[in-house]
Amino acid sequence: MILYDKQNRAFVLGGKNYSYLMHVNACGFLQNLHYGSKTEIGDLGYLISHIGSKYAPVKSDLNMDCLFDVMPSECGSYGRGDFREPTVVIERADGASMSRLRYASHKITNGVYNIPGLPHARSGGQTLEITLKDDFSPVEVVLKYTAWDEYDVLSRATEIRNAGKESVKLNKAFSFCAELPEAEYKMLRLHGSWAMERMPEWNSVAHGVARIQSLRGASSHQMNPLTVLFDGEPSERTGECYGFMLVYSGSFAITAEKTYFGYTRVQGGINDIGFRWELGGGESFYTPQALLCYSEQGMGELSRAYSDFLRERIIDPAFVNKRRPIVINNWEATYFDFDAEKLKSIIDAAAPLGIDTFVLDDGWFGKRDGDTSGLGDWLVNEKKLKGGLKAVAEHCGKRGLKLGLWFEPEMISEDSDLYRAHPDWAVGKLGQEPVRSRNQLVLDFTRKDVVDYIFGVMSDVIKNNGISYVKWDMNRPMTEFYSNTLSADRQGEFAHRYILGVYSLAERLTAAFPDLFMEGCAGGGGRFDAGMLYYFPQFWTSDDTDAFQRALIQWGTSVGYPVSAMSCHVSVCPNHQTGRTTPLSTRGNIASLGAFGYELDLTKLSDEEKRDIKRQILDYKRIDALVLNGDLYRLIDPFGDKWFAEMIVSKDKTEAYVVGERLRGVPNDITRRIKLDGLDPDRNYTVEESGVTASGKSLMRIGLVLPSLADYESFAWHLKAVK
Ligand code: GLA
Repeated sequence: MILYDKQNRAFVLGGKNYSYLMHVNACGFLQNLHYGSKTEIGDLGYLISHIGSKYAPVKSDLNMDCLFDVMPSECGSYGRGDFREPTVVIERADGASMSRLRYASHKITNGVYNIPGLPHARSGGQTLEITLKDDFSPVEVVLKYTAWDEYDVLSRATEIRNAGKESVKLNKAFSFCAELPEAEYKMLRLHGSWAMERMPEWNSVAHGVARIQSLRGASSHQMNPLTVLFDGEPSERTGECYGFMLVYSGSFAITAEKTYFGYTRVQGGINDIGFRWELGGGESFYTPQALLCYSEQGMGELSRAYSDFLRERIIDPAFVNKRRPIVINNWEATYFDFDAEKLKSIIDAAAPLGIDTFVLDDGWFGKRDGDTSGLGDWLVNEKKLKGGLKAVAEHCGKRGLKLGLWFEPEMISEDSDLYRAHPDWAVGKLGQEPVRSRNQLVLDFTRKDVVDYIFGVMSDVIKNNGISYVKWDMNRPMTEFYSNTLSADRQGEFAHRYILGVYSLAERLTAAFPDLFMEGCAGGGGRFDAGMLYYFPQFWTSDDTDAFQRALIQWGTSVGYPVSAMSCHVSVCPNHQTGRTTPLSTRGNIASLGAFGYELDLTKLSDEEKRDIKRQILDYKRIDALVLNGDLYRLIDPFGDKWFAEMIVSKDKTEAYVVGERLRGVPNDITRRIKLDGLDPDRNYTVEESGVTASGKSLMRIGLVLPSLADYESFAWHLKAVK
């Protein structure tokens, strides 16, 4: 809901459980009045008078710095007395950067706003665009908000328009600025590294600026573009919290600035370090979208709100609710060492187990027997694969499987025909030694000719070999941030233009192949973000498939992202990343909390293991609708406890699926009870495995006794409501 109250010059935005109120004060500045719990419209007058006495400058105060510094603003400006970090910094031709942004007009429309070239919420809602004009230049800043009645997510983005003739430079162009009420906030960082993505860490927001960011050209393993500010001690079921997520996959920053008067300003967008964008006369710059989310019932509710929103408004509706392919991927089975016969033997072993897609990973193209060569040469290596991809596809067809294929479209090896022909296509200054990571360079996706070429070669391979599934990988961070084709004064545009190139390739592929299923990957989960999920319904969560570490990674990922977006595989033991041995059943149970598959050499399985895997797949098919559509409840936090447990409940609350794993046993912990969540208190449920029947109320208030298990053993319970 979006309303404009003319009398109070106020904007009232609201969703399921929140209100977001703004007001144009006597001087024309747009102030935030309230963000949080749902308010009554009749409260506007009281809110304005209350806040006005403290923060609203009167006409004669237009130039008083002390007022700007305490005003809860919707867009922090630079150089005019607001000494907090600005939201936008616009440098004019005369070198001046101060701006005084004041309300000029607004417009309310049905539906979402479009952001050219960037992923964004697809449909529904109502949009408010407020245009602020700079008193000192012809620049206009348009603040965009979309609110949906059915969600607790509010979307924000900013458009900067140069209505003049002379170019201006954008030195900072964040997507949103939100001013949170006075409170002792804890701030969440989902930090990590390769094979250890999205580890939750909470810190107090102290005075000054707390900043999370990536400078890696990708959203990164190291820090996810999502934070939560929790009022007090974070809890799953109670308490007020605010989420801030960017629909963006490049270098980003989100800051939380606690000021001397108590408010906390949270803002974020494209990382301003190294960013400088030239905006010509008459041009507009569009920031990525941010998704703000409010919950007054703790972290669980916040995560479910984000999950629903991403599933229903961001992820491609053509795939989001479709049964996911159950894949066998050959990476950990063979690495680079395979031939056609080996692949056929894996396909033969997969067919009777119920697996439906074979994904051929790295090593099928160019001269690619290791990671030092071949990237960019997207032509099948017929020496290695006799009969080419066609033969593999045919063999899959004979066995009733579909064929998926790995690409790393954004990369180039120096030892490749592509690099020999086009050394200037690599990111970096020609003639200047580049930084190598995994022995490869990054292709310059700011260039249309490069993206066109990659689109052409990928399309040919996909078309000519009946590929139904693509795993799009990206295995190194960006360095140099330099294009041989951008002019000297535009090199600051590199990192963002690169991501626009990535999105344009994804956009073109999804348009050209509407039935093609794409999974994203970045050395595991190094670009797991809402921007990527717009194009890829699922993302490879992590290269770490160890059933202990994966439980932690999936827990952290679920803070902002739906379980259906997490690609989860069962791999071999000892685990290749951690060396740990865990039961096959536990690896299956943990992987079943996501989009399911296998990543091991099926030809080496014992008959008993084959039987177990067949069973796992049948079991998964019983619950995959819950994974796609259900609500996730995190029950036992593996970071703070000796167990891990999560459950998924169907939207109609007639069915639920609980998975638990014992992590670090201590004596006497087998009499513990686990309290379930999300059930209908007034219905009875039967736990299929034990035959126990009890009311939802008892299962949630009293709980079920945890089974007696050894470390890394696990359980899976199916609950059905009694009719
Ligand atoms: C990355 C991916 C792996 C695999 C390899 C291939 O590490 O995360 O799953 O595809 O690349 O090189």
